[in-house]
Amino acid sequence: MRKLAVVVLAAGEGTRMKSNTPKVLHEIAGLPLIGHVLATAHSFDSDAVVIVLRHQKQQIETYVSSFYPRTLIATQDDIPGTGRAAQLAIAELPSDFDGDVLVLSGDVPLLDVNSISELIEIHREFGNTGTLLSTVLENPQGYGRIMRSRENFVGIIEQKDASEEQLEINEINAGVYIFDAIVLRKHLESLTVNNSQNEKYLTDVAGLMLTAGERVSAHPIQDKWLVAGVNDRAQLQEVAAELNSRIIRGWQLAGVSIKEPASTWIDVTVQLGKDVTLFPGTRLHGKTSIGQGSQIGPDTTLTDSKIGEGVLISRSQVEGSIIAAGATVGPFSYLRAGTELGADGKIGAFVETKNAQIGAGTKIPHLSYVGDAEIGEGSNIGAGTIFANYDGVNKHRTKIGNQVRTGSGNVFVAPVSIGDGAYTAAGSTIRRSVESGALALNPTPQKNIAGWVLDQRPGSKAALAASKDTE
Ligand code: UD1
Ligand code: CA
Repeated sequence: MRKLAVVVLAAGEGTRMKSNTPKVLHEIAGLPLIGHVLATAHSFDSDAVVIVLRHQKQQIETYVSSFYPRTLIATQDDIPGTGRAAQLAIAELPSDFDGDVLVLSGDVPLLDVNSISELIEIHREFGNTGTLLSTVLENPQGYGRIMRSRENFVGIIEQKDASEEQLEINEINAGVYIFDAIVLRKHLESLTVNNSQNEKYLTDVAGLMLTAGERVSAHPIQDKWLVAGVNDRAQLQEVAAELNSRIIRGWQLAGVSIKEPASTWIDVTVQLGKDVTLFPGTRLHGKTSIGQGSQIGPDTTLTDSKIGEGVLISRSQVEGSIIAAGATVGPFSYLRAGTELGADGKIGAFVETKNAQIGAGTKIPHLSYVGDAEIGEGSNIGAGTIFANYDGVNKHRTKIGNQVRTGSGNVFVAPVSIGDGAYTAAGSTIRRSVESGALALNPTPQKNIAGWVLDQRPGSKAALAASKDTE
C-alpha cells in the first residue's frame, strides 16, 4: 500500500472575512470550518496530517491541538502563497517520504471522505503524478480556472491573472489535490512569485509538472457544494445553509419530522431518535441528543442537552441540561447548565432553572426561579417561587424532599432544607429548615385600616369605587 500524507492549508489571512476571528475558526453547523476539514483529513489511514498556519496561528493552534492533537503543525514564513504553504508542510514529513500528498484547503468545509477517496483512486489507477478536483460553476468569480486544450487538462490560471477570454471558463479549481510527494517537492522548489499577487501558487505546480512530461489530470465533480470555498461572510452563510439542509434531509430520511426546514438548524454533532418532531424555529446545538418521539419547538433552542423519550419542549431555551422521559418544559422557560428534570416532571411557563436536580414527577408549573437546588420526587413548587441562592457573596443550596407541597409566592433563603411530605404556606419566606411532615408558615399578621382610601385618596377612582361599595 502506498503511503499517504494529508496537508491542510490554513495560513492565509482571510482578509475578505473582515473579522478578528481567523477565517477557519468561523463556525458552520456547530464546528469551525477547520473542524470539518480536520475531521475529514483524519479519517484517512495516513502517515501524517500536517496543517499550515501563520495568520492568527495561536488561536487556530489552540483548537487544533485540543481536538486533533495528532496533527503536525507547520508555520508559514514571510513568503506568501499556497505553494509556499505546501512546501513548508512537506518539510514536516520525513525527508524520505515517497508516498502521495493529499492537499486540502482549510476553507473548503463540505468536501467529504467519499469524494476524496475517489480522487485518490483515480490518481493511483491512472498512474498520475498529480490529480485535482474541479467543478463547473455558473458563476466562477474568484476561483482559479481549469485550462484545457481539447479535452486535456493543461493548467490552472488564477482569476487575477486571467485574460478576458480565460475568465469565461466555467470549470474551476476546487483547491483539492493529490501529488506524488517526490515530484511535488522538486517542483515546489522552482515556483516563483511572478504573478499579479506576488505569491507562490500551488496551482502553478500542475503546469510545471505537465511541461516536465508528468501525468496530471483534473476531475470535475457534479456536486459543486462539496468544493465550495469560503472567502467572505456571504459564502460562509451560503455554505452553512447548504450543510444545514443536507443535515435536515439526513434526519428526515432517518425518521424525524421537521415541520419547517427553512427555520430549523441542526449541528452536525446532534443525535436524534425516531419519530422526533421538530416544530418551526427549532435550533439544536452542540452535543444535544433527543430520544424517540419527543416534540421540540416551536421557537426552541437546545444546546449540549440530553433529552429523553417522549419529552415535550415548547418556546424555551435549554443549555447543558438533562431531561428525562415524559417530562414537559415551557412554554417560555430558560433551563441553564446543570438542570436535571426527572421522568414525567414539569417545568412550566416562565420558569428559570440553574444547577437544579429535580426528581421524577416533580412540577414547577409557573413563574419561578430555581437555582442551586435539589428537589425530590413527586413534589410541587407553588407559583411564583424564588430560590434565593445568593447572599451577595456566596451561592447556597436549597434541598427539598419527596412529595413536598410548597405554597405560592415562597422565597427559600438558602441554605435551607424541607423534609419529605412537608407543606409551606402561601407567601412564606423560608429561612429555617422544615422537618418532614410539618407545615411551615411565617405570617405577619394582616392589618386592615378602615376608611384609609377615603381619608388619604379622596376624589380618586378608588375612593369613588369604595364609597359606592359602602352605600
Ligand atoms: C485557491 C486557488 C484557486 C482555487 C481556490 C479554491 C491558489 C493560488 N489558488 O484560491 O485556484 O480555485 O483556492 O477554493 O492556490 N493559504 C495558505 N497560505 C497562503 C495562502 C493561502 O496556507 O499563503 C491557505 C488559506 O488559508 C486557504 C487556502 O490556502 O485555506 C486557499 O487560500 P485562498 O487565499 O483562500 O485561495 P483562493 O484565492 O481561494
Ligand atoms: Ca479560498
